[in-house]
Amino acid sequence: MHVNQPLTLLGGISPAEFMTTYWQRKPLLVRQAIPEFQALLSRPELFDLAAQNEVESRLVMGTNGGQRDWHMQRGPFKRRAIPKLTERDWTLLVQGVDLHDDRMAALMQQFRFIPDARLDDVMISFATEGGGVGPHFDSYDVFLLQAHGQRRWRIGRQKDLSLVPDMPLKILANFTPEQDWVLNPGDMLYLPPRYAHEGIAQGECMTYSVGFRAPQTGDLARELLVRLSEGAEDTAGCDVYKDATQPAVAKPAEVPQGLAEFAKLALQKSLKDPKALQRALGEYLTEPKANVWFEIGETPNQLRSVYLDRRSKMMYDAHHIFLNGESWRAAGQDAALMRQLANQRCLSAEDLAKASDEAMGLLMEWCDDGWLHSGASIPVN
Ligand code: SIN
Ligand code: CO
Repeated sequence: MHVNQPLTLLGGISPAEFMTTYWQRKPLLVRQAIPEFQALLSRPELFDLAAQNEVESRLVMGTNGGQRDWHMQRGPFKRRAIPKLTERDWTLLVQGVDLHDDRMAALMQQFRFIPDARLDDVMISFATEGGGVGPHFDSYDVFLLQAHGQRRWRIGRQKDLSLVPDMPLKILANFTPEQDWVLNPGDMLYLPPRYAHEGIAQGECMTYSVGFRAPQTGDLARELLVRLSEGAEDTAGCDVYKDATQPAVAKPAEVPQGLAEFAKLALQKSLKDPKALQRALGEYLTEPKANVWFEIGETPNQLRSVYLDRRSKMMYDAHHIFLNGESWRAAGQDAALMRQLANQRCLSAEDLAKASDEAMGLLMEWCDDGWLHSGASIPVN
């Protein structure tokens, strides 16, 4: 992607300008971000997804914009568990649609001027007249693309983010909207994290939320430390605390100073190797979500061109290639080729001609695992 090229998706500004002016800073409304846009999934297709066990879905019912009577149920939902279309004020939310549908995965490609490490998923919300999830804020950056029908968005910069107590959803107690728009199909609204907003369906409506996760210090530290300690166990099985000099104690409940020092050294040791930390980070960032699995692929006799499965997460750093929670050390021409695969998500026959036997073997293995497919890539609209 050319980051300095103006994009219709961003209302005629370039990704570079968007990132410096709006990203994490302020909202951007783009009329006709995708001109003549039509919903990629029909209503029955969405309801079918909501009926599946491995798809995360929720049903929200609430009074239009009010603070009373919010109800939330978690899926899967059989068709008869979904309210009638003639009933108003309900919303069906289906999460991670990009994992289940190639068209949605292709739509997400348009947002790859933002690092893949930040990309989370696409949620589809379907609502009848008056439906919505109430005034709230998210901890995510989100692009809200109107896919079908109309939704009225009201947004505000408010600092008071206190919530109505005892609700099944996060509902702002004192929502103070400052801007108000009705979005039509193809219109898109970008919101930075913690920006108050409420979207209310005007008639039957579908909205796509392209969401971007940001790691939180505590979660990230825990994930990395678990991975680093697993690596340390392999090599340093006999590093056991020794206290031959421990004197007899009159206060047995007191934690020995030596043990506190040992704990500090143990942590320092696991952080000592910067490559181990980078590896743990890449493996964590590319770990498939819990509800993702791959269908074992067919081993092709020969690879002409390849493309990554829509569920595959592939990234790299200066020393490693990461794919679906695993890592490989890579250097030279093979590393360049694998980085190209990670960035483009496909390789042509011409690209593959440069692969070493070892790289070719790895690509074949990934095809067996269903992480990679032989053939031309999925189309990007
Ligand atoms: C929705 O699409 O109904 C909710 C999306 C959001 O407010 O984040
Ligand atoms: Co929201």
